[in-house]
Amino acid sequence: MNKHIYITRKIPDAGLQLLKEKGITFDIGKFKIPPTKKQLIKELKKKTYNGMISFLTDTIDKDVFDSCPTMKVCANFSVGFNNIDINEAQKRNIGVSNTPGTSSTAVAEHTVALMLALTTRLVEGDEFIRQGKYKGWDPDIFVGTDMKGKVIGLIGAGQIGTEVAKILHYGFGSKVIYSDVKQSVDLDNIDETKRMETSEVLKQADIVSLHVPLLPSTHHLINKESLATMKKTAFLINTSRGPVVDEKALVFALEKDIIHGAALDVFEFEPKLTKGLTKLPDIILTPHIASARQSARDMMAVLTAKNIISSFETGQVINKIII
Ligand code: DGY
Repeated sequence: MNKHIYITRKIPDAGLQLLKEKGITFDIGKFKIPPTKKQLIKELKKKTYNGMISFLTDTIDKDVFDSCPTMKVCANFSVGFNNIDINEAQKRNIGVSNTPGTSSTAVAEHTVALMLALTTRLVEGDEFIRQGKYKGWDPDIFVGTDMKGKVIGLIGAGQIGTEVAKILHYGFGSKVIYSDVKQSVDLDNIDETKRMETSEVLKQADIVSLHVPLLPSTHHLINKESLATMKKTAFLINTSRGPVVDEKALVFALEKDIIHGAALDVFEFEPKLTKGLTKLPDIILTPHIASARQSARDMMAVLTAKNIISSFETGQVINKIII
């Protein structure tokens, strides 16, 4: 196949191999940290590219598409796609794809790990020991709470939300409630699991976990008003996209004990952190690593490559993003 694509940064060999087998040639950006839009445009202008593999850290908009008029496909190496102007791509007939399902297990497990870290006070305990403060067993230090019997409120019931629900219900005996634009048959099959309005989930849940894509309708879904409706004892987990949470409002809510704690893997102004976040004792922060497993990365690379190949062979990507 006489096609040449640009790949922003190295993806696992499992995907590159598939491209090679089809005779698709590629250039890989040598960036150590995510490139700026200006740097990306400079790269894309260097040669004639028929497509690209983009990262969630790349802003792919009108200017980027203008810099590469021969682009026919943009395969995003992630499940999220909020970095791409989908309308602009559609206007130009550029196929845009993502990698659904490739990282559901990893993200679900990381989500549950964050919940457990909060309920068991694991990170606080670790810090306490490292600071040399441990003087012997004490029945009153770092008293946590059980997951068993907890009401888990999932906002978003796609593949990741469903895996989280199964781990928690079958593994821990938690009760799951959820909100989603669609009814989920998978979740409804779990005993006692109920779909309800997001406002009800927020009111009833002991732990609220976010699993929605970032869209205009989900931007700041968690804000000053919605945080005020949550239980004082509740925890908030975000492994979806940072801007789903108004982080300034979250910092305020934690400072004023409006909710009990939070764990974030994604950030509103990633990689910048909202002022006050790192000063709070009742928050756990991880650097967008929920899907960071070799198994997930390999599956992401394979599916991304398949989307590129399909676009060149059939004119259509497999995982077309429709908004
Ligand atoms: C995704 O896939 O969208 C994750 O955020 C990164 O793997």
